[in-house]
Amino acid sequence: MHTHFSTIASKYRSVRTLDTKPISYIKDKLKQKSKIKMADIGCGDGRYSLEFLKCFDDSFYIHCVDYNEKMLESLECYLVEQNTTNFCVRQGDANRLPLENDSMDCIVTFNAIHHFDVPKFLSESLRTLKNDGHLFVYTRLRNQNFRSIWGEYFPLFAEIENRLYELEELESHIQNADMNIHSTRVFGYSRISSLDRLVHQAQNNHYSTFALYDKEIFDESLEIFQQNIKKNFDDLEQINWHDENILIEIIK
Ligand SMILES: C[S@@+](CC[C@H](N)C(=O)[O-])C[C@H]1O[C@@H](n2cnc3c(N)ncnc32)[C@H](O)[C@@H]1O
Repeated sequence: MHTHFSTIASKYRSVRTLDTKPISYIKDKLKQKSKIKMADIGCGDGRYSLEFLKCFDDSFYIHCVDYNEKMLESLECYLVEQNTTNFCVRQGDANRLPLENDSMDCIVTFNAIHHFDVPKFLSESLRTLKNDGHLFVYTRLRNQNFRSIWGEYFPLFAEIENRLYELEELESHIQNADMNIHSTRVFGYSRISSLDRLVHQAQNNHYSTFALYDKEIFDESLEIFQQNIKKNFDDLEQINWHDENILIEIIK
């Protein structure tokens, strides 16, 4: 997977869809706090870190943590280009966070928890969050993945992606870590895309799931995906579907 993320680092932002609803939601949840110190774990090329930097004032500071150096190089260029300064880049593992004890008001992780060792990541979050700190986990659940355009129409996509969790599994990890779920919120999105764009995304492994196929099976599956889409949608420029993700708010 490390190689996959290194290969895709320079084009990651261009092949993924940015969800801004959870950003506003988290901002609202943190409105009582002044001077927020946040860490974005598995930050990738920084598209979510940037959204946070844009929506808070100068008293906000974000630690961008990822184990992939190529992603972090891309993040650093991007955030500097956008004239943001209140961030630092920390290469490190989610399972052994490069952060001090009791130092963070908030930890967020977007689309990455299924790559971590969840018990270790939770225990590290517990160690590094301040007493009234919040952890927000944004992810797609296994059942949400089954119902996505890829899960429905791309052969084997949802079956091969066996790293994602169901809510009950995450709940049980959170309970075992002696942490509590404060809220859960499902965000729904009406997506529209052309078939060409979907094919481009799959060919560019916009989800790391595609990197789990061997080449021959991927090519066959992409062919079948296109046939399935043609059978089920009239306008190949405007394919509509509904995506869902969940945001879990966890407290110490
Ligand atoms: C699917 S990407 C998501 C990136 C970003 N959060 C976003 O949504 O745009 C997952 C990221 O997690 C990072 N990652 C995976 N396992 C990790 C680990 N154990 N520690 C730190 N980062 C990790 C990968 O390098 C990658 O950048």
